[in-house]
Amino acid sequence: MIFRQLFDSTSSTYSYLLASRHGGEALIIDPVLERVDRYIQLLKELDLRLVKAIDTHLHADHITGLDALRERTRCITVMGEQTKADVVSIRVADGDRVDIEGLSLEALYTPGHTDDSYSYILPDRVFTGDTLLIRGTGRTDFQNGDARAQYDSLFGRLLKLPEETMVFPAHDYKGDTVSTIGEEKAFNPRLQVKSIDEYVELMNNLNLPNPKMMDVAVPANMRIGLARDIVAERGWTLTAEEAKEALGKPDVALVDLREDQERRKDGTIPGSLHVSYPDLEESLKADGLLQHLAKGGGKRLIFFCTYGQRSAMAVQAAQAAGLETARHISGRLQAWKAAHGPLSR
Ligand SMILES: [Fe+2]
Repeated sequence: MIFRQLFDSTSSTYSYLLASRHGGEALIIDPVLERVDRYIQLLKELDLRLVKAIDTHLHADHITGLDALRERTRCITVMGEQTKADVVSIRVADGDRVDIEGLSLEALYTPGHTDDSYSYILPDRVFTGDTLLIRGTGRTDFQNGDARAQYDSLFGRLLKLPEETMVFPAHDYKGDTVSTIGEEKAFNPRLQVKSIDEYVELMNNLNLPNPKMMDVAVPANMRIGLARDIVAERGWTLTAEEAKEALGKPDVALVDLREDQERRKDGTIPGSLHVSYPDLEESLKADGLLQHLAKGGGKRLIFFCTYGQRSAMAVQAAQAAGLETARHISGRLQAWKAAHGPLSR
């Protein structure tokens, strides 16, 4: 595995770049906006293609690099389903997996620091966001933080992982880089409590100042999606009703950009073609499948996904590849369901 721990000294944030091989797909966890140039350079140096960027939670102390990375690499942005960030491409729930070539992370819902906090598990390590820090735990006094929920996330979930599991947090302010579950159980002062009430008491009396960036970072991180707005302005959208009318017409090809996990969960539009978003770029090349369909077969491409975010980016990519009739179904797949559009499993 290729694994890089990257540090932003301004906010003391750790970001993690993961891939299974050189020349393959990569994923980044908790990227920081100011460091995006560095990530892009490193991706080039290691010959990696960024396909997913995850934020463990809505950050209050730095502006996320999710949006900039998506604009520059067309990667998929991932957060938990509880997040208030406006446009995230994939929202995960507890137990879902985030896959890239050769690597599969399990999403573990660990609220407490915020109500949208997730940890991500690999067999030998866990990315704990701000839920479990090295010899500390994330504060619980703002952004719907909840010390009781955090106690359950820690004692009921994270500390039940095997003791040798390596712990990689989203921050460290002392210079530590990695710990293990066993080490934290034994030496983390916040975890030496005898009851949930003792933990809540401890967390409610920390009296910490608000993070310096909070007033800037939280609103910025809630509005990380622009592709949908741009695509709507250009008129490259269809409503669910319009798409329903187009369904089955000989000059139309519906393209499902979702992953298998999502297709199993919600079903798919009958007759649609499956090109998962990471394969899109390939299929838009001169000899690619979608180019053949559109240019050779005279089909109008209509993209869809779960939240209308990947499909908006797909329209931009298709238009850039010269496919002027490409559109997407605006709104969520929910809108299609609400319009009684057919879905099959
Ligand atoms: Fe945080």
